[in-house]
Amino acid sequence: MDLTGKKIFISAAGAGMGYSVAKLALNAGAKVYATDLEPAGLEKLSALGAETKTLDITKDDLIQDYFFKTPDFDGIVNMAGWVHHGTILDVNETDWRNSFLINLDSMYFVIKAAIPGLQRNGGGSIINMASLASSVKGFPFRAAYSTSKAAVIGLTKSVAVDFMSDGIRCNAICPGTIETPSLHERMNSMVEKLGSKKAATDWFVSRQPMGRLGQPDEIASLIIYLLSDAGSYATGQPFIVDGGTIA
Ligand SMILES: NC(=O)c1ccc[n+]([C@@H]2O[C@H](COP(=O)([O-])OP(=O)(O)OC[C@H]3O[C@@H](n4cnc5c(N)ncnc54)[C@H](O)[C@@H]3O)[C@@H](O)[C@H]2O)c1
Repeated sequence: MDLTGKKIFISAAGAGMGYSVAKLALNAGAKVYATDLEPAGLEKLSALGAETKTLDITKDDLIQDYFFKTPDFDGIVNMAGWVHHGTILDVNETDWRNSFLINLDSMYFVIKAAIPGLQRNGGGSIINMASLASSVKGFPFRAAYSTSKAAVIGLTKSVAVDFMSDGIRCNAICPGTIETPSLHERMNSMVEKLGSKKAATDWFVSRQPMGRLGQPDEIASLIIYLLSDAGSYATGQPFIVDGGTIA
């Protein structure tokens, strides 16, 4: 899974799975263009050799400007996402719109900016982060999140079909529960309701038949495969990596 010479853009690269993808892509020889809303994680990636820039993935004008000023890419990793906790009765219109802005519109902004460069390069690979909580499976308290992530799978399939003749592949990733900083935030926010951090952790672990949470590198390694020429026959798919949840 060699990425030597490939230029890879990653959103939300400062933490969690985005950070893992950036790290593994650098190890595989890629030139990594890591972006995030926050600078802290980017500083660590810069020290490892990545080109870094703070970039709010909800701002279309900033994204178009970024792609105008950077070279044509070979790979695009749309990682940014946000979890709203609640049923459809709990989600107000602002949070509903923000779910779609961060989880879906951001990909529309990035993909339309990236495709001309991918076409000039003779093809490439786009990876969109969806979730098991999507059209794949319903989970309690994920109404806005799951709906927006289901749309990510629809967008992925459309891009795969529309640009196959340009050599552009587009796939989605559907992870189960992965231990990242934002998962710990979600656990912390449930401590009051469930009584302790351990009870909140157990609630998330209990959804995983393997009896443990996934680790970011266990998802990032699949993304490296899809970015590389080893994944050249894969397109239009939601790849499920879920610790056996829907086995
Ligand atoms: N962690 C899980 O269990 C899990 C499971 C399935 C899918 N996902 C999805 O995977 C993706 C990554 O999640 P994670 O848990 O690995 O990471 P995370 O949520 O812990 O952190 C990711 C990074 O996103 C950045 N970010 C937030 N808003 C941003 C914005 N507007 N613009 C740019 N960057 C922004 C943060 O600064 C942070 O560095 C998300 O799309 C998430 O929905 C996560």
